[in-house]
Amino acid sequence: MAEERLDHLLQKETVIYPPKEFVERANVKDYEAEYKRFLDNPEKFWAEVAEKLFWYEKWEKVLEWNYPYAKWFVGGKTNITVNALDRHVKNGKRNKVAFFWEDELGNKKVVTYGELYRLVNRFANALRAAGIKKGDRVVIYMPLVIEQIVAMLACARIGAVHSVVYAGFSVPALRHRIEDAEAKMVITADVTIRRGRAIPLKRIVDEAILDLPFVEQVVVLRRLEPKVDLIGEKEVDFYEFMDGHLDYCEPEVMDSEDPLFILYTSGSTGKPKGVLHTTGGYMVGTYYSMKTVFDLKEDDIYWCTADPGWITGHSYIVYGPLVAGATQVIAEGAPNYPDYGRWWRIIEEYGVNIFYTAPTAIRMFMRAGEEWPNKYDLSSLRLLGSVGEPINPEAWLWYYRVIGKEKCPIVDTWWQTETGSVMITTIDGLPMKPGKAGKPVPGVIADVVDKEGNPIEPNKGGFLVIRNPWPTMMRTIWKNPERYEQYWNTIPNCYTAGDVAVKDKDGYIMILGRADDVINVSGHRIGTMEVESALVSHPAVAEAAVIGKPDPVKGETIKAFVILKEGYSASDKLVEDLKYHVRMELGALAVPSEIEFVDKLPKTRSGKIMRRVLKAKELGIDPGDLSTLED
Ligand code: WTA
Repeated sequence: MAEERLDHLLQKETVIYPPKEFVERANVKDYEAEYKRFLDNPEKFWAEVAEKLFWYEKWEKVLEWNYPYAKWFVGGKTNITVNALDRHVKNGKRNKVAFFWEDELGNKKVVTYGELYRLVNRFANALRAAGIKKGDRVVIYMPLVIEQIVAMLACARIGAVHSVVYAGFSVPALRHRIEDAEAKMVITADVTIRRGRAIPLKRIVDEAILDLPFVEQVVVLRRLEPKVDLIGEKEVDFYEFMDGHLDYCEPEVMDSEDPLFILYTSGSTGKPKGVLHTTGGYMVGTYYSMKTVFDLKEDDIYWCTADPGWITGHSYIVYGPLVAGATQVIAEGAPNYPDYGRWWRIIEEYGVNIFYTAPTAIRMFMRAGEEWPNKYDLSSLRLLGSVGEPINPEAWLWYYRVIGKEKCPIVDTWWQTETGSVMITTIDGLPMKPGKAGKPVPGVIADVVDKEGNPIEPNKGGFLVIRNPWPTMMRTIWKNPERYEQYWNTIPNCYTAGDVAVKDKDGYIMILGRADDVINVSGHRIGTMEVESALVSHPAVAEAAVIGKPDPVKGETIKAFVILKEGYSASDKLVEDLKYHVRMELGALAVPSEIEFVDKLPKTRSGKIMRRVLKAKELGIDPGDLSTLED
């Protein structure tokens, strides 16, 4: 994949200029000037953003940088929900719509800022009454419904640390996250609805918390009739839980560096790591990018198709847009159910102006054909965004032409769970180069370097790094500071993102893919080791190695090489068994599309599996240096 993309880069490149009318009205009209304002005085730059928001007490210092630990807005006191809710409700926006929600069947809800405020306050009071205190961890395992967002904000209101787990994860994956965070409470729903099917969630929670005594309570949103049974004293109905509580909950006064949430993500080890984000810097940084990268204006209708189970949903559905006072659309379920017109119908119906999605979805729609989007009026759109994986120029151009009608700039936003907000893109006035994410956003100094941290000449591959601290950076890995420090110690004096990239002579950065053992399937990070551990936990498997294979729609798919134990033999049935096993261990996202049985795996003399050799063989490319291969 990387090689293919590099070849493309070296061919003649396309440059597309944003429409003049767009730039004239953009919140940032001149990227270079904005970037210079940052470089001239980073602390002043960020202080000016922070001053637009509410603080109980102002910070004493913008940044305290004690490599690799940063504190932002030191000594400042705030509460992110006061900025996301109270500030708007008090400033005449009580009746402004916060969310238009709908499901696959077209069931709808409209929630204003005033209503969201009441729901969050009541739920927050209920959490306090249930004994949840500042610093306690709460796991949220819910579908994309208003109540999911209410639960997140209610935690933030009282200073509880939420850990949202995407509702596609299976029992052991959920259990690991509950255990690692020692969550006192789990908030869930009876079901999530996808492709017309109700997929049970509560049943997964029931199993995941067996023998975890620290989980004191399970709050269950019951959507379907007849209502799912609540078992034992631990379980309580979502609405009964908040019934009778007051519409106002005194917010916890949070230090700028108090934890806001943990979000688990995959890396090169067998277990996902809990990325920790804190309050003040995260609030300021996500707010800034809503205004600049997404050019949010007061009257915009904004739709980000992510799920709050991922960082994109945290930063660009829940916190960034609400702090900025946006009106949003959210839609539960599959993009192409009941048909491929669903998303385009939604854009027409709500008059969506800003639309943010993932390349995998764009490629899926490309395959389905232009006739679907062409049935709908998409003229309300003015800005398009992409995130999660590299967008190939063909998909970029399709998105630009068929969805944006050649009048909407596209922001191809590169960032990560760890970075908290967008790091690289083409902020609105910048010319765009399809396939290249763009330049570092103001606030960020990004570069492409060699192992020692030396800049690499234009158009040559290297490691993507960030050279400075920024407000939304993760503060640590939960219970694993060494792992946190690795990000900043791998290449001297930089944050190593784990991606390989190239920079062109104009400073545009193109992301080629992961440099580590992480596979990106449909924009979701899957650790090779996680899938290998899941496979090896099956009784028939002696050893397993997993690689990512290029896929025209999903970006990458998972291929597994498996050595069977004595007494087992390869069969189609066993392939299906193994796939089912991975689904049960990790979730549907991590299921290999291909499983090949082998007798041997390439290893280093010290016994490490050389996945790169497997991958080279699979793709028919040069495997590179083989001197460390065992035989
Ligand atoms: C990849 C998602 C190319 C990259 C916000 C990164 C991208 C990982 C892009 C983070 C992009 C994300 N172009 N690659 N625009 N955006 N990636 O933590 O490999 O789920 O390291 O955060 O996705 O994935 P994560």
